[in-house]
Amino acid sequence: MLKKPFFIGWLLIGFLVSHTILAQPNNFAQRLSTKETLMPIGAYYYPEHWPREQWSRDIKRMANLGFTFTHFAEFAWAQLEPEEGKFDFEWLDYCLDEAAKNGLKVIMCTPSPTPPAWLTEKHPEILTVNAEGITQQHGSRLHVSYNHKTYLYYVERIVEAMAERYGKDERIAGWQLDNEPHYGVLYDYSEGHEKEFQKWLKNKYQVIDSLNAAWGAAFWSQTYNHFEQIHIPNTNKAPQGINPHALLDFQRFNAVELASALRFQTKILREKVNPEQWITTNYAYFKFLPSVDPFLLEDDLDFASHTMYLTSKFLSDHGSKLAHRLGSGMELAFSQEMAESVNGTTGIMELQPGQINWGVINPKPLPGAVRMWVWHAFALGDDFTCTYRFRQPLFGSEQTHKGIMDTDGVSIARGGKEYIQVIEEINQLEIPKKTPEIPQEIKSRNTAFFWNQYNLLDLENHKHHADWDTWQLYYTYYQALKSMGCPVTFVTEADAFNPNEHPFMVVMAQQITSKDLIGKWEKYVADGGHLIITSRTAQKNPKGHLWEAKQQEPIWDLIGAKIDFFDHLPANYPGNITFNEKEYPWHIWGDVLKPKEGTQVLARHADQYYVGSPAITHTTTANGGSVTYIGVVSDNGMLEKEVLRKVFTDKGAQILDMPYYTFTEWRDGYWVTVNYTSENITAPIHKGGKIIYGKNTVPPGGVTVWSN
Ligand code: GAL
Repeated sequence: MLKKPFFIGWLLIGFLVSHTILAQPNNFAQRLSTKETLMPIGAYYYPEHWPREQWSRDIKRMANLGFTFTHFAEFAWAQLEPEEGKFDFEWLDYCLDEAAKNGLKVIMCTPSPTPPAWLTEKHPEILTVNAEGITQQHGSRLHVSYNHKTYLYYVERIVEAMAERYGKDERIAGWQLDNEPHYGVLYDYSEGHEKEFQKWLKNKYQVIDSLNAAWGAAFWSQTYNHFEQIHIPNTNKAPQGINPHALLDFQRFNAVELASALRFQTKILREKVNPEQWITTNYAYFKFLPSVDPFLLEDDLDFASHTMYLTSKFLSDHGSKLAHRLGSGMELAFSQEMAESVNGTTGIMELQPGQINWGVINPKPLPGAVRMWVWHAFALGDDFTCTYRFRQPLFGSEQTHKGIMDTDGVSIARGGKEYIQVIEEINQLEIPKKTPEIPQEIKSRNTAFFWNQYNLLDLENHKHHADWDTWQLYYTYYQALKSMGCPVTFVTEADAFNPNEHPFMVVMAQQITSKDLIGKWEKYVADGGHLIITSRTAQKNPKGHLWEAKQQEPIWDLIGAKIDFFDHLPANYPGNITFNEKEYPWHIWGDVLKPKEGTQVLARHADQYYVGSPAITHTTTANGGSVTYIGVVSDNGMLEKEVLRKVFTDKGAQILDMPYYTFTEWRDGYWVTVNYTSENITAPIHKGGKIIYGKNTVPPGGVTVWSN
């Protein structure tokens, strides 16, 4: 007989081996289809919205149209636990049987965003309170505080019950936790949340004087005597302005608490489910959600998935007359590449199937746009795409939100037809026998995009210039990179900065910087990497205080220049920068630099009292690495684009020259170009390239696919 500890040891090793091998995220797409395909495509189905007699018909139809998986139970807490502690899984079992009969795999979802009425009636203390002091009520969703102990008690019970029932069920591909997790009113200002915040601060600072020092509480006599005096920073209640360090800590606290609530669910599932069943959550578009930091869960979830509604808020208007119908492909790409960077793989959990109901103006997508979005998701490397939703709802808050099927439930909506087309097109692509070699040109332009959520929040909390827009700054660089055809990986301070993997790295306004981080950048450059770094970087230390040194002095050696000062201008009197004999206007941010000997000046101020002073510099290291410092935020991003093009070309990258809002990507041996503009464009087809779909000329909303 095996001795107990020995046996347990083997069990543990066995578990770890099976877990690491079987739960590898790159296997997860295979679990979403019983047929071979390069990208499984699925659709949400809410049985609880339809009469039982229709379930079998709908599920069969979904499979017949080519979808390979479906998605159940996301908001169905009231159906799964209609009364406290009384569970009803019969209806879900029935739907699972129907899905399996028709060869559909299932993503199972935990219903935590929608606690039932009996729960909030019994425990109104779990409801969130908004910044105006209004308590949220039952009748919506995301109305409870994620970290409330009472709420978590009930979450544990329902998740455990689901895990016990479905954790060993072969028909379940994986789990989605919650839905677009974030604090529903952005933040919770309830008493309970305030108490948790105080506890968190106590744990972080231990003694109140450390908090006073970190928050610079000596300023305006804010010094605290004990943690219980601290309130949630609420700008409505502090018209003279909030302590920025307190605010940033509150934002960190929210991100950490949200992540730990999801980790809590993950742990319950991991204990009960087969390791083959993967676990993810579907992050909503990051721009609007300061309480979400997807990198906090990189060791917990198998991967981060994301959701995308391209016409929703007219996210970034690129000035084209069709932008409202085509949406912003730049935002799809940004969201996809960020989600993918967390664990190296991702899928779109929700993709708009047609017109939506909750945007600003809700236009009809251009015919072809839905198909283009799926192709774009494919091109970006998404491992699966799931559309939201199979049937258009007849009641509830999203009545006029299109589905794959029309309101009669049996006719296929226009977006549905486009899905059928793209499913067939993707299925017809030959699946390479072995993983194709990544083309050299792609490797030559792989770019790391430095990311730190709290730096972003700190910049937004303290803008300095009313027109400062951190997201616009990111988009300026991101869009320029995509126009060159660069695959972009978001890297955080914890990642290895490897020039062989990413020959280029962009760092935008990383004002909170540690000496260690600067050391990592120095090493990256010494190892031959090309760093592009902008104004505001290294202004502050890790506490968010200015360094007790000259302006950005900790990076002077790295960039080979001193930063003498920065300037801001009014929009109606912009300054100009001369680069390559052309002038580019700016008004939000302009640095005046004093380069060291040997540092090259790439661009100078063309006016102001410091006319002729350097604004952009470039320096190289012994083994070919380089640092380009861009000390200006230009008015239309064209200056940054041209500087990037020069650096990439000078350093040997093979780059494209795609018009903005058009994209070319490579995936699994296929090149794909998509066009979000209102003009025809030409796909950059390689000599001898074989067109599979589309033509050389790509119309608005069009797609061209080719292989070499
Ligand atoms: C998403 C959300 C879904 C649904 C959808 C409608 O943001 O996650 O649950 O509401 O919008 O477009």
